[in-house]
Amino acid sequence: MAISNPSLTHIDQFLQQQNDLDLLRFITCGSVDDGKSTLIGRLLFEAKCIFDDQVSSLQNESATYGTQGSNIDYALLVDGLAAEREQGITIDVAYRFFNTDKRKFIVADTPGHEQYTRNMVTGASTTDLAVILIDARKGVLEQTKRHAFICSLLGIKQVMLAVNKMDLVDYKQDTFVAIEQEFAEFSKQLKFEKITSIPASALKGDNIIARSSHMPWFKGPTLMAFLETVPTAKGLEQHAFRMPVQWVNRPHLDFRGFSGTIAAGVIAPEDEIRILPAGSIAKVKDIVLFDQHLPNARASQAVTITLDREVDASRGDMLVAAQDPCQVSDQFEVELVWMNQEQGFTGRSYGLQIGTNWVNAQITDIKHTINVNTLEQNAARSLGLNDIAVVKLSLDKAVAFEAFPDCQPLGSLILVDRFSNATAAAGMITHALRRSSNVHKQDLTVSKTARNQLNSHSGKVLWLTGLSGSGKSTIANLLEQKLHQQGIRTYLLDGDNVRHGLNKDLGFTEADRVENIRRITEVAHLMVDAGLVVITAFISPFRAERHAAKARFEEGEFVEIFVNTPLEVAEQRDPKGLYKKARRGEIPNFTGINSPYEPPIDADFEVDTSILSAERIAEQLMQQVITDLKLKG
Ligand code: ADX
Repeated sequence: MAISNPSLTHIDQFLQQQNDLDLLRFITCGSVDDGKSTLIGRLLFEAKCIFDDQVSSLQNESATYGTQGSNIDYALLVDGLAAEREQGITIDVAYRFFNTDKRKFIVADTPGHEQYTRNMVTGASTTDLAVILIDARKGVLEQTKRHAFICSLLGIKQVMLAVNKMDLVDYKQDTFVAIEQEFAEFSKQLKFEKITSIPASALKGDNIIARSSHMPWFKGPTLMAFLETVPTAKGLEQHAFRMPVQWVNRPHLDFRGFSGTIAAGVIAPEDEIRILPAGSIAKVKDIVLFDQHLPNARASQAVTITLDREVDASRGDMLVAAQDPCQVSDQFEVELVWMNQEQGFTGRSYGLQIGTNWVNAQITDIKHTINVNTLEQNAARSLGLNDIAVVKLSLDKAVAFEAFPDCQPLGSLILVDRFSNATAAAGMITHALRRSSNVHKQDLTVSKTARNQLNSHSGKVLWLTGLSGSGKSTIANLLEQKLHQQGIRTYLLDGDNVRHGLNKDLGFTEADRVENIRRITEVAHLMVDAGLVVITAFISPFRAERHAAKARFEEGEFVEIFVNTPLEVAEQRDPKGLYKKARRGEIPNFTGINSPYEPPIDADFEVDTSILSAERIAEQLMQQVITDLKLKG
């Protein structure tokens, strides 16, 4: 009970009272037809969250647009807030706030149309409960199963199955029980802890706030009574202390604090913490919030922590309880929800954010995708919009993490498309892969520098990219001869040749090309380490892979050469007759014809064989690179 203060206005009192209430976050899943908008509208209405003038406007609008004759159409309350009235569908996630005198509520309302997966992932993060709506006339649909599966995937443990529109099935107990049982059967395969089913009619108000006189056979709680009493998810406060470092706060030389939002647990001065991944240990000296010194701080609070000694830590590191640290790894098995129009491939490099860490990551294996309607597992080579898959991820740096079921904030990650900056996927870490902690890099005594000294030149990759028939192989061949004559140790990796050996298992789908270039990058990387000048001649049609290839090398080691021969010229040459075949429809995915080529934006060199001869180009390139190669002194 809030202590009333006579100087406070009504609104202040209202807000203060609200502050004292605990908070339930829930998500509603269901389609427009299931009566979701009507249900939320009814809850808002009954919770008295609507001011009177809004009610009268609602009555006016109901008469104009509504589907309920002269009665209030509660769906308009919700729908009216978004553009959905004009569009006929709810777009994106809408968060609504309301309260009763027992609790505050935040409801994430996600639409049921085809973008559902993506919206649900957004809406479901940090919710305590999912309300899954069913139309009593239709029962458990494929869509119901999909929603349930995604809720389970996102770690939601409690479900309310709201069997709506009971008025349209004559309030029959049998209908309700059959639906309840079917859902329970399907959910056995999921990870819910508790499912509560309630028969209701949002439109007529049965079992919403008041107990329905039409369904005396139902002994459970009303919808609102359930929402007011269901336990909120076990707070992250019980978990061991975790705080990802967001930034190092150093306003002057005498102060150095680590700022961030506490992801889990409680911390107090004198507590011993460990800094991961390094592992160094220190004691908390002070917890600061603006100019206050706090006796302790807990999950979801943003604070600055100072330590009793100088330790090395920066953004992306994690402060954890010294005696109960989390794991550190660079390889994970992850449940992934693909959220991008652009397909996802193994071998392609993505930006990965976990906690406050930004690293590079690759999907190294797609174990399977999951058919969310049947829970069947299917083999896949690529990931499309709304796909759900179990994949392996490899990061270029080890990070501190938790498995998603243990601590959601530290077990969830996103993948970001490097070129569009769009969120490509949301991921939930299942576990780290064993090999990441069991495979260690071996230090070798003979170094790259030593090998380069023996050769009297450094290693490099001269990466030729361009259409088939653009002249890559011809130029590469001439360039190798010229470098060889200059006493340079070289090796030429050519598309057609490598595809007879190392990459003979790969074809020309996007997924296979990504993998082709990833392997070539790794081979070239080893060869440069061995001291060779590697010339590569691959179409390498995608920017993402060329970019990833470059990133694999040291500054200046990777030289991108764009053999910019126009398609018409390459097609006219057609040295292997492939363009003709492709035009006849005999070769699927032929670059330039029915598979894309993404020209480089900032190649180091650009050459056009329709203007200069291959001989001249090779000579010029040789002159350009040779001086860089020779070691000084
Ligand atoms: S890449 O796209 O994965 O980089 P790569 O350079 O290895 O391709 O192989 C290209 C060569 O394979 C072409 O020069 C051509 O001889 C042959 N080839 C066969 N089918 C195709 C196809 N569908 N698209 C392009 N090249 C093809």
